[in-house]
Amino acid sequence: MNDQPDSLQLGLFMPNCSNMSAISTYRAVPDEWDYESNKRIALAAEAAGFDFLFPVSRWRGFGGDTDYLGTSLETMTWASALLAVTTKIRVYSTVHVPAFHPLVVAKMGATLDHIGQGRWGVNLVSGWSKDEFGMMGIDLLPHAERYQRTKAFIEVLKGLWTQAPGCFNYDSPWYTIRGGYSLPQPVQQPHPPIVNAGISADAKAIIAEHCDWAFISMFSIASAHATVADIKTLGHARGRDVRCAGFPFVLWRDSADEAQAEIDKIIAHKDTVASSNWLNGLNLQSGSFDQFTLDMMTLGAGAFPLVGTAEDVAVKLKALHDVGLDGVLMVFQAYHRDTLRFQTEVMPLLREMGVIAR
Ligand SMILES: Cc1cc2nc3c(=O)[nH]c(=O)nc-3n(C[C@H](O)[C@H](O)[C@H](O)COP(=O)(O)O)c2cc1C
Repeated sequence: MNDQPDSLQLGLFMPNCSNMSAISTYRAVPDEWDYESNKRIALAAEAAGFDFLFPVSRWRGFGGDTDYLGTSLETMTWASALLAVTTKIRVYSTVHVPAFHPLVVAKMGATLDHIGQGRWGVNLVSGWSKDEFGMMGIDLLPHAERYQRTKAFIEVLKGLWTQAPGCFNYDSPWYTIRGGYSLPQPVQQPHPPIVNAGISADAKAIIAEHCDWAFISMFSIASAHATVADIKTLGHARGRDVRCAGFPFVLWRDSADEAQAEIDKIIAHKDTVASSNWLNGLNLQSGSFDQFTLDMMTLGAGAFPLVGTAEDVAVKLKALHDVGLDGVLMVFQAYHRDTLRFQTEVMPLLREMGVIAR
């Protein structure tokens, strides 16, 4: 494992959901959402020296020809199985705050941390899809309040994970805890790493105060730099070091032209209906979206494209590391194949450049 603090941590944004790599009907390999594929990818990533595996939490698909992310493995049970078959790599779960009580997540999380002997982490997301939560009869709160609730959720988790059993009390509009008791406590002390994957001011405030990692969207190296600087400065103002990871779509071939031709093929088969449903759900705007936005959405739902030769990819990963990113969760076109290729074709270059440990 690549655990030196200044190494770029390598992660996979795993295909625990169908069509994970692209909102497109073009596929280089059969869909890898099923458990056997996830296990094969996890074992390959661990053998290659990757640092972490990260899932998406979804409860229904986004329609169109792909029904993007419509079939998905639930991320606590998914992590449980992967932690049991691996020994070194960190495995995260992604938890939707509105769907769980924090006491249940504290217990499940501690269980997972024991199964993995200190290798579990949690991404707490506030939720944004009205269709998903509408299906459960849960109304999404207004944005600021949604994040206040996420903050309360994290405070309950931390209280249960760190205070003596029976001692933790908590009051908030969403959760009331009296004599909070949850044993075992996690293996990792004071608690497993807590991630948030929001980039709004509401999200950043909570990340700075409470999270160990921010997993961010980025649109360019410059935008990654700005977001990372902002989050780290907010953390430092509270005396905390927050680490940041971004999510790129990584595709490489022997020549840059070949790589671009593959990207063109993915985009030519884009599922405009599913992409529009996704963007409308995010409430960015409603109605129709321009060609460029839809093309960019096609690759891993807005992942930052790192495309070219193996060397181009390594140089761009170094550039992201140089602007302050501590980790990447990569979307691959064909996860198992590309994990093996990444190990032999890109990782040696990253080692030579000093981006990951030798
Ligand atoms: C790397 C990453 C992973 C995310 N994973 C999920 C997820 O699994 N489920 C989900 O509902 N939202 C997920 N999100 C969406 C965020 O939780 C958040 O809603 C979105 O980034 C908008 O940010 P904001 O709420 O700060 O405006 C993810 C975002 C990022 C950047």
